[in-house]
Amino acid sequence: MDNINTNNMTVSNEEFLATVAEKSHGAALRGDYEHADSHYVVKQHWQAYTEAEHDLWRALYQRQMSLLPGRACDEFLDALHKMNAADGIPEFEKTSRALFAATGWTIVAVPGLIPELTFFEHLANRRFPVTVWLRKPEEFNYIVEPDVFHDFFGHVPMLFNPVFADYMQLYGKGGLKAMQLGGLEQLARLYWYTVEFGLINTPQGLRIYGAGILSSGGEVEYCLTPGTSSRHIHLNIQRCLNTLYKIDTYQETYFVIDSFQELFEGTATDFAPYYEQLKQGQALPANTLLPDEKELLV
Ligand code: PHE
Ligand code: FE
Repeated sequence: MDNINTNNMTVSNEEFLATVAEKSHGAALRGDYEHADSHYVVKQHWQAYTEAEHDLWRALYQRQMSLLPGRACDEFLDALHKMNAADGIPEFEKTSRALFAATGWTIVAVPGLIPELTFFEHLANRRFPVTVWLRKPEEFNYIVEPDVFHDFFGHVPMLFNPVFADYMQLYGKGGLKAMQLGGLEQLARLYWYTVEFGLINTPQGLRIYGAGILSSGGEVEYCLTPGTSSRHIHLNIQRCLNTLYKIDTYQETYFVIDSFQELFEGTATDFAPYYEQLKQGQALPANTLLPDEKELLV
């Protein structure tokens, strides 16, 4: 992937912090960026987690596990069980070794949100950035910025699946390309509606593979409840690239795939013409249902 020249787009640390401050509604970024290297990688310092933090992790883990059987996809649950992450905040290195053996991905520790360019470079090189800090007890049910529970519990298990792992790498390459084509806004929507909030159709019914749902206390049940005001429609890539999303409520639209192979193949096409076309028009509101779209959760 290294043939994409990104040198002309390096974001200064200050510019990055300004962007993230906007995204977090002016609040300061959490996390210690002072010891990060040029790729925003830090040491996990596993020994420094407190017993209270391990307790909180266990409570989060147990709450999710009371919800996920029968709702999360088998790929997620099978990998999670093998990861032995129930007993406390995991040591990234240990899981990283198992992950590398399975799909060639590794985990890197980061202080929190990182610049888009850096994020894409990690993904394109099969490295998944995981935030080191854990939320506070009062954030048990809801947290604004991703923490170690969301990043590790929500994202890492899916990287044990070879097809999904390849998709994530291609997404990183696609991100570097989108930066040059001015398509970031569009491409970010695809990440949101697949990697974070994706559902998959199985013979047993709809199942969750999106990390934003898998690590959430409320949305696990909500997204699979028929009759809410949200829709569940089959993923169409161009439609998804053109759909706005909500960051502070449950999703109003869930995009459903039939297989990870479908996701991989559907995104293998060149997005450049899509970006060109979509930039001309208006994005669709998050609660759009087009005439030819069918509700899949009944
Ligand atoms: N095929 C996309 C492009 O040409 C890149 C991509 C792949 C994006 C996979 C997302 C997921 O830009
Ligand atoms: Fe995430």
